[in-house]
Amino acid sequence: KVVAVIMVGGPTKGTRFRPLSFNTPKPLFPLAGQPMVHHPISACKRIPNLAQIYLIGFHEEREFALYVSSISNELKLPVRYLKEDKPHGSAGGLYYFRDIIMEDSPSHIFLLNCDVCCSFPLPSMLDAHIKYGGMGTMLVIKVSAESANQFGELVADPDTHELLHYTEKPETFVSDLINCGVYIFTPDIFNAIEDVSTNREGRANLRRLSSFEALQSATRILPKDFVRLDQDILSPLAGKKKLYTYETNDFWEQIKTPGLSLKCSELYLAQFRYTSSHLLASGDGEKNAKIVGDVYIHPSAKVHPSAKIGPNVSISANVRVGAGVRLIGCIILDDVEIKENAVVINSIVGWKSSLGRWSRVQADGDYNAKLGITILGEAVTVEDEVVVINSIVLPHKILNVSVQDEIIL
Ligand code: GDD
Repeated sequence: KVVAVIMVGGPTKGTRFRPLSFNTPKPLFPLAGQPMVHHPISACKRIPNLAQIYLIGFHEEREFALYVSSISNELKLPVRYLKEDKPHGSAGGLYYFRDIIMEDSPSHIFLLNCDVCCSFPLPSMLDAHIKYGGMGTMLVIKVSAESANQFGELVADPDTHELLHYTEKPETFVSDLINCGVYIFTPDIFNAIEDVSTNREGRANLRRLSSFEALQSATRILPKDFVRLDQDILSPLAGKKKLYTYETNDFWEQIKTPGLSLKCSELYLAQFRYTSSHLLASGDGEKNAKIVGDVYIHPSAKVHPSAKIGPNVSISANVRVGAGVRLIGCIILDDVEIKENAVVINSIVGWKSSLGRWSRVQADGDYNAKLGITILGEAVTVEDEVVVINSIVLPHKILNVSVQDEIIL
């Protein structure tokens, strides 16, 4: 049997995701109309002999309860949310729930970060992992040399694929091959995590007995039950024939900022063509709006037949789109109203917001720039004919004059 664990982190981790993380935990923010964590979960469906999926995090339990029960029914597979009382780090969180995870006596455990967007080639990773015969196999990808330092950089043996060297977010360039945050392990991973805790405790005790200087550095030691997968496990175990790599040539992004969520929504919409084409709007028939490219429209949304939508648009529940509206490259969240002839380009429009007649909400679409996409927080009102360009607007604001390149607090 196999189990999958998805690390969903907690509220303190989402600060870069503001203002969108104010009312939804980041893992439930919709990409291509589905909660972020839905994409790795549906990828897990393709793993043979999968017994359970666990989400581990320190968000409030009630925030995940509804989602977890509906997805369990949909997949006919138990999905459980396990809440840590405090952050234990990416490996410590896994270890904290080891007894529950081992209940089904799995031979393999998948471990996925919730904030990565990729095609999750899990069955081929499992095959490769069994062939390598190590304790763990991680998904890796080549990125540009300039962007590599935001991730774990690594060196792998080109023939055996063994992980030879690993450094987390190094200051000087090591390699353009990086860690995708998708792993498969045998249950031996729990012993490796336990060793880190035990060593740390031993070192702390030793220092307590020695000089004042050492005592000072001992206070900087992390708590014994806080273990990071990258620094504490991957780095020390590299080059010991325990860890291997599986390289993907498909798409991969990390979803750290709202701008990147727009990019990832686009990537997942494109993937729907192959995996879930029933979720893409077709625009067939005279009564429907004109659809261009990949578009998701929630069944409860009401879109006027004279509106033109796409490419790369996702429209959530109960949204109303008026006559003559034009939407390109955007995420429209629940309960938004877009009135006649408004235009939205390269933007995210927050829950319950309202866009007036002939208003424009737009941006250049540079996903990496701070104001490269326009974001309206929850319940923002843009009045008739007002233009909002390259701006971030915090929740509950009313805009009655046009703004450009501004953060409206
Ligand atoms: N449950 C729980 N508890 N989850 C946690 C905790 C914790 O205490 N700390 C982090 N996580 C989750 C995060 O939500 C995320 O899904 C994952 O663990 C990794 O988060 P970080 O440890 O903050 O690392 P990172 O996102 O900056 O970078 C990691 O992922 C990159 C790929 O996306 C590293 O492994 C990089 O090397 C890697 O490139």
